[in-house]
Amino acid sequence: MAVQISPSILSADFARLADEAARVPNADWLHVDVMDYHFVPNLTLGLPVVEALLKATTTPLDCHLMIEDPDRWAPAYAEAGAGSVTIHAEAAKAPVRTLRQIRSAGARAGLALNPGTAVEPYEDLLGEIDMLLLMTVEPGFGGQRFLDMVLPKIRRARRLIDRHGGQVWLQVDGGVAEDTIKRCAEAGADVFVAGNAVYGAADPAEAVDRLRALAETR
Ligand code: DX5
Ligand code: ZN
Repeated sequence: MAVQISPSILSADFARLADEAARVPNADWLHVDVMDYHFVPNLTLGLPVVEALLKATTTPLDCHLMIEDPDRWAPAYAEAGAGSVTIHAEAAKAPVRTLRQIRSAGARAGLALNPGTAVEPYEDLLGEIDMLLLMTVEPGFGGQRFLDMVLPKIRRARRLIDRHGGQVWLQVDGGVAEDTIKRCAEAGADVFVAGNAVYGAADPAEAVDRLRALAETR
C-alpha cells in the first residue's frame, strides 16, 4: 500500500476551514476529529460542520469519531458523503452493525483503538473494516507527545492484517511528525494523521511532502 497523509484540521484555523483545506492540495485525506466532551474531554465539531466542509473541498474527509455513542451517529457521516468514518472500539456497543452501516452508505469503515487497548481481541473484526486506527496519544487534543509504547502494537497489527489478506489500511494518529513518522512506517503503518506537524508548519503543503518522503524511505 502506498503511503497516505491525512492532515488533521484540529490544528487548523476553525474560522477558515475551507482555506485551510486548500492549503494542502497534496494531501490524500483531510482528517476531521469529532469530539463530544464525553468520550474525550474536549469538544470540537459535528455533522453540520462536516456537511459544510464537504461542499468546500474536493479532498475526501477522514472522519474520526471520538464520541460516546458512535452507533447512533456514525452512519450519518457516511450518508453525508465522508470518504471514511472511524469509530472507537471502546465506545461502540454494536460495532459490526455500525461498521456495516458505514460501508453500505458508501464510506470506508474504520475502527480505532486507544493506546491502552490491545488489538488482538479485534482480529475477528478485520473482515468488517477498511482501516484500523491505532492512537499514538491518548485521544482528545492535538500537539501531544508521540507514545513509543504503541510501536509493538503497530507491528502486531501489521502481522494480523497481513495474515488476514492485507486489504486493511493501518493508520496512526497522534504526535506523528518528522521525528516519529519513520518509526511508525517501519512498524507497518501506511496512513499517517498529522495535525501540528502540518498546520504548525510555515508551509503545510511542503510539510505533507516531507512527511510522505520520510514515510516512503522506511
Ligand atoms: C487527537 C486527534 C488527532 C490530533 C493529532 O485526539 O485524534 O487527530 O489532531 O494531532 P497531532 O498530530 O498534533 O498530535
Ligand atoms: Zn484523530
